[in-house]
Amino acid sequence: MEGDKGTVCLTGGTGFIGSWLINRLLQEGYSVRTTVRADPENKRDLTFLTSLPGAAEKLKIFSADLNDPNSFDAAIEGSKAVLHVATPLSFDGKESLEAVTESANTVIYNGQEMDMMDESFWTDVDFVTQKLNPKTHPYLISKTFTERAVLEFGTQHGLDAVTVNPGLVVGPFICPRFPDSVRSSLALVLGNRSEYGFLLNIPMVHVDDVARAHIFLLEYPDVKGRYNCSSNTISLDKLSEFLRGKYPESLAEMKGPKLPGVSSKKLLGIGFEFNNGLEEMFDGAIQCCKERGYL
Ligand SMILES: NC(=O)c1ccc[n+]([C@@H]2O[C@H](COP(=O)([O-])OP(=O)(O)OC[C@H]3O[C@@H](n4cnc5c(N)ncnc54)[C@H](OP(=O)(O)O)[C@@H]3O)[C@@H](O)[C@H]2O)c1
Repeated sequence: MEGDKGTVCLTGGTGFIGSWLINRLLQEGYSVRTTVRADPENKRDLTFLTSLPGAAEKLKIFSADLNDPNSFDAAIEGSKAVLHVATPLSFDGKESLEAVTESANTVIYNGQEMDMMDESFWTDVDFVTQKLNPKTHPYLISKTFTERAVLEFGTQHGLDAVTVNPGLVVGPFICPRFPDSVRSSLALVLGNRSEYGFLLNIPMVHVDDVARAHIFLLEYPDVKGRYNCSSNTISLDKLSEFLRGKYPESLAEMKGPKLPGVSSKKLLGIGFEFNNGLEEMFDGAIQCCKERGYL
């Protein structure tokens, strides 16, 4: 472990990305103040966090809930940065293949079809409201509004506000819950047909690379604005081929239309490097799922 790099606050420490990021921050020499939702009956087992190497000395856990914004004050107090990872995340309202295909229509920019979306592309909230399954509205719309609000707040108050936009985050996990994004990434293996629509041409990134990107941006001088963070964009048919090569028992051949990918050129342009590809994402995810009995 490296020396003390100061204290950061991380919201949502019980989640897939949050818990992995805590582990990485501790390894890199940070002290971490993380938030979890209140547990009045003290039933929640947080040993997956408190038993991490260095946690006894460098991890403090606070109660906070997004429904009560002031509840985060104590955790933020004295921190040199806030990594805001908590969000109510739900992929319940799965889009049909047709709906997702139709959403490709939003990716017409200046009259030209895009192969790759860079940071200038924003979710079209009107399109989401009018065309997509209402169950997905709260997540998609809240993420868009939150991101805009964070960046505007940074500009107004002279803060270095950075947003990280990962693709589908895949890989091993230390949180007790089966992460939604890992489950979706394995839809072809699990046979969850209703989730195939998500995978038509999906940008993906390993959870450790997402954690490293957060720390890289935290340490990069004078950085501001949006950063996409995806190492691989893969179409449904290629994903199917890749998984059949590795896990032949798992799935049938799948075909699907190609939608635009996500470009991480901006992040790579300031020197970030991805350490993992699809092999590491799926080997880590499948091994964890087998160990936990999900596969
Ligand atoms: N995973 C992906 O593929 C992906 C891709 C792009 C962006 N992201 C973003 O990355 C972040 C983390 O995602 P994840 O996959 O790690 O999700 P996750 O595993 O569901 O974790 C979400 C975290 O937010 C907390 N949370 C939920 N509602 C809350 C509330 N009302 N108040 C306080 N905390 C609350 C959860 O706490 P509990 O444990 O108490 O529920 C959990 O710690 C989210 O902002 C998500 O939008 C994720």
